[in-house]
Amino acid sequence: MAILVTGGAGFIGSHTCVELLNAGEEIVVMDNFYNSNAKALDGIKEITGKNFKFYEADMLDMAAVDEIFAENDIEAVIHFAGYKCVPESVKKPLMYYSNNLRGTFNILECMKKYGCTKFVFSSSATVYGIPETVPVKEDFPLSAINPYGSTKLIIENLCREMAAASDKWSMILLRYFNPVGAHESGKIGEDPNGIPNNLMPIVLDKATGKREVLSVAGNDYPTPDGTCVRDYIHVVDLAKGHVAAIKKARSSNGALAYNLGTGNGYSVLEILDTFQRVNNIDLGYTIGERRPGDAAATYADPTLAEKELGWKAEKTLEEMCRDAWNFRKLREEENK
Ligand code: WQD
Repeated sequence: MAILVTGGAGFIGSHTCVELLNAGEEIVVMDNFYNSNAKALDGIKEITGKNFKFYEADMLDMAAVDEIFAENDIEAVIHFAGYKCVPESVKKPLMYYSNNLRGTFNILECMKKYGCTKFVFSSSATVYGIPETVPVKEDFPLSAINPYGSTKLIIENLCREMAAASDKWSMILLRYFNPVGAHESGKIGEDPNGIPNNLMPIVLDKATGKREVLSVAGNDYPTPDGTCVRDYIHVVDLAKGHVAAIKKARSSNGALAYNLGTGNGYSVLEILDTFQRVNNIDLGYTIGERRPGDAAATYADPTLAEKELGWKAEKTLEEMCRDAWNFRKLREEENK
């Protein structure tokens, strides 16, 4: 029996593959390299010393997805594949709905056809919209404030309704906060194609000189230092949460949602100052205008995941900043 990891060459997917293999799981990986590359697959093998089947396939290609299920005994699916850039989703809603929803429908249709009933979904804290209060709990109201968030919420709702229609399904919905960092080996990390939108890849681009300007998006928020507060979580901690989720899926039915965050909120300036300190780099950032749609502060209450998954984030902000830079430095060297 194997676990199918869709989007397994991606940032969170590749780190999850490492932790699954380290936990003794058998995996099959599928990715179309839209926002990833084959180097991640080599990194997974080098880190773990283990091999796995890989299919370069697009989840929109039903025949390709069906072939993976027909050729492998898939026990469970961890579904990362999807577009995830919020501003891009605002400009291209149809592209986001079409890809993220039709692709997920194909995966779930094949699971149903082949009797695979365990589904771990890469959801997002974005399904909370702009929360009224913090820390954010799983029973908070759900809403979408952008097309990317809408696709995550629609898929969560589908999972809940499938689980209500048949008790054979075990759907674990993992709501990520702000994943950053990289595996300590530096062999895998955040290596997006195209221009990044998230803070840490932008910081790394500034640190390598790939980017001229690093602007803090507003310092007039009602927060301790005026900059936005987020729950940054080390990607390795996040990956370990997926190993725990698979174990939960094997012993439960229904649709269960969990926050994967640290429960700590850090401001943009705290991120920049910590990055500069641990890596001995002067980023030379400026203070700019607010970014439309940003919440002042959002961070998780992670106690339900600790209680029901036996999972808790352990890595520090210093480790997140050190590991992120270590990976980027090594990748820049390789690409020279
Ligand atoms: C973090 C903070 C920015 C860039 C998004 C998605 C969310 C999830 C994580 C997928 C904010 C500030 C940023 C810059 C800045 N993705 N910032 N200067 O917006 O919290 O969440 O990514 O699941 O769904 O919404 O993350 O990294 O974009 O921004 O000051 O050049 O950094 O304003 O306060 P965000 P982010």
